[in-house]
Amino acid sequence: MLDQRRLPGEIVYHTYADYREVARAIKEMEIRGAPAIGVAAAMGIALGVERSAARSLGELKTEFSEICEAMAKTRPTAVDLFWAIGRMRERFEALAAGAKDGDLARLRSAMVEEAQRIHAEKRAIDEAIGRHGAALLPREGRVMTQCNAGALATAGYGTALGVIRMAVSEGRRIEVLVPETRPYLQGARLTAWELQQDGIPLTLITDNMVGHIFKRGGVGAVVVGADRIAANGDTANKIGTYQIAVLAREHGVPFYVAAPVSTLDLSLPSGEHIPIEERPGEEVTHIQGVRIAPEVAVANPAFDVTPARLIAAIITERGVARPPYASSLRQLADAAASTAADSRVRA
Ligand code: MRU
Repeated sequence: MLDQRRLPGEIVYHTYADYREVARAIKEMEIRGAPAIGVAAAMGIALGVERSAARSLGELKTEFSEICEAMAKTRPTAVDLFWAIGRMRERFEALAAGAKDGDLARLRSAMVEEAQRIHAEKRAIDEAIGRHGAALLPREGRVMTQCNAGALATAGYGTALGVIRMAVSEGRRIEVLVPETRPYLQGARLTAWELQQDGIPLTLITDNMVGHIFKRGGVGAVVVGADRIAANGDTANKIGTYQIAVLAREHGVPFYVAAPVSTLDLSLPSGEHIPIEERPGEEVTHIQGVRIAPEVAVANPAFDVTPARLIAAIITERGVARPPYASSLRQLADAAASTAADSRVRA
């Protein structure tokens, strides 16, 4: 696992042999970004099953529940985490039904294969999101994002940055405006690094420059990722996304969300019901271990919710949803997995 806390200064990979270490890595944001958290959780579950000392199916079932519970407790907002746990659970239950104690080795390797399949599918899904979204971006000009919704945050291509990447590969001449994204600095540390590696032009700004930049003009679109999208289209994403959406509306700039269908949580009627993670105060009072504020009360909500009315479109691997989202998102969720990406990854 590439340690995202150390980027861009150091490139450090960790190898984990215990699912509890994977859970801790997710919680401490060694790996972060909704789809990447989901893939890591699936891998963590596979690791837990593979390394389990269980000698009977009954023992393995008990341990499996404990493993899933440990993963579910890591981060509350990104629904991809719960999607991935659900998918691994479904597979486990299907394999366990009718299995005998002698089938444990087969079951273990099938769970590893399922996690690897999730990884491969997620990558193909991002590319499909990119293809659907690229046409919405200007042929030439500046596009703002927030946080890091790129390769690091996903299975290797990106959702919001995947849209940008695809648009650039299709010949659009785009410069990306990258807000630094306090307090964790995913924009400054990760998005700036990723874009630089890819040779995509970017300008890094601090979060409080966003209004000024919009007012000066020349921003053609905003595209961000998502951690959870409610049935009415309200979207939770990294803290600071909401204020960008409000400013985009004020300045007539289209605001797009790019996310896989697994990020839809149609069980929630609106964004008010999305759990918002509150992270440790040290992330605000300290930068890279150096205290920058006195010992005072601190708020650190990691996400905010952008109301659906500020979102011009939600780009998924199955197509682009437009308002009213209650019906367009339902249609996408119900669509048989028949898009090119879906059929390719399932083949
Ligand atoms: O706290 P993080 O870094 O996990 O938050 C990440 C974001 O908010 C991303 O924009 C979102 O997960 C989409 S990633 C493709």
